[in-house]
Amino acid sequence: MSTLIIITGASKGIGRSIATAFAKDTRIAKLKLCLIARNLEGLKQTQQMVNSLSSSQRKIQTSIHSIDLSEIDTLHKSIEKLFKEEIQQDKFERTMLINNAGSLGYVGPSSDMPTPMEMTQAVNFNVTSAIWISSYFVKFFAHQHKTKCNVVNISSLCAITPFKTMAMYCSGKAARDMWHKTLAAEEPSLRVLNYAPGAIETDMTDILANAKELDPELSAFYKRSKAKHTYIQPATTAKKLVNLIMEDKYASGDHVDFWDE
Ligand SMILES: NC(=O)c1ccc[n+]([C@@H]2O[C@H](COP(=O)([O-])OP(=O)(O)OC[C@H]3O[C@@H](n4cnc5c(N)ncnc54)[C@H](OP(=O)(O)O)[C@@H]3O)[C@@H](O)[C@H]2O)c1
Repeated sequence: MSTLIIITGASKGIGRSIATAFAKDTRIAKLKLCLIARNLEGLKQTQQMVNSLSSSQRKIQTSIHSIDLSEIDTLHKSIEKLFKEEIQQDKFERTMLINNAGSLGYVGPSSDMPTPMEMTQAVNFNVTSAIWISSYFVKFFAHQHKTKCNVVNISSLCAITPFKTMAMYCSGKAARDMWHKTLAAEEPSLRVLNYAPGAIETDMTDILANAKELDPELSAFYKRSKAKHTYIQPATTAKKLVNLIMEDKYASGDHVDFWDE
């Protein structure tokens, strides 16, 4: 029996590194990675990186799916189809969801928010879609197919600390954290983790560093981190996350940061 790991936002950045960190970790003997994002080229590159870590002794299977997770109207249909395909192809004793996809949304003063429509789009993707995927994952794999389930919400320090000019991002991450904490309280048989990866060098932090309305102190931090190479690398935080999951020592629903002991 295999372990199925579904990773959203796997076309680049932290999601890609989480996929390769699982591929490198031999504690999972039979592994299938299901990789989701919009950019098919990026997904193919992640798939190639995973395939290069596969061997005749430990063959890693992959599937890639180009899905826009902000498309709320079609989300149920596309995710249900994907989960059904996965379960038809193999039997899984354990399934994991790494709920990683995310975006910054509006960056700027809280007294000058964008239009309600722009706010709705960001909330649809970063909150509604992410929460719905975790919910449906539990219903489908834990309840209907009786597999052991891990749910990982990729969180942020922003979920628990206010950062000036990042209220949309902070409140979206806080909502995701609390939803997953509540899920953990309701479902003691699940393993639920809110993981804050630290400040990582990715496209997201590049965009942030150049965001005109970002708080000047934050802007200086991101620019300095890039110039002085003090960012945590995606592979480093991904390895820490895989170890956390495999060692299984956290309390379900906890918010664990890269920098925590
Ligand atoms: N970088 C950091 O310092 C940092 C710190 C704390 C938390 N995080 C969190 O870590 C996660 C990953 O961030 P990252 O830094 O790796 O960002 P990134 O490089 O911008 O990657 C974001 C990922 O999300 C996917 N994505 C974006 N919009 C999507 C959509 N509509 N549908 C499906 N997939 C979509 C992107 O793929 P496509 O564009 O191909 O769709 C990409 O794979 C996010 O939740 C972020 O909030 C990051």
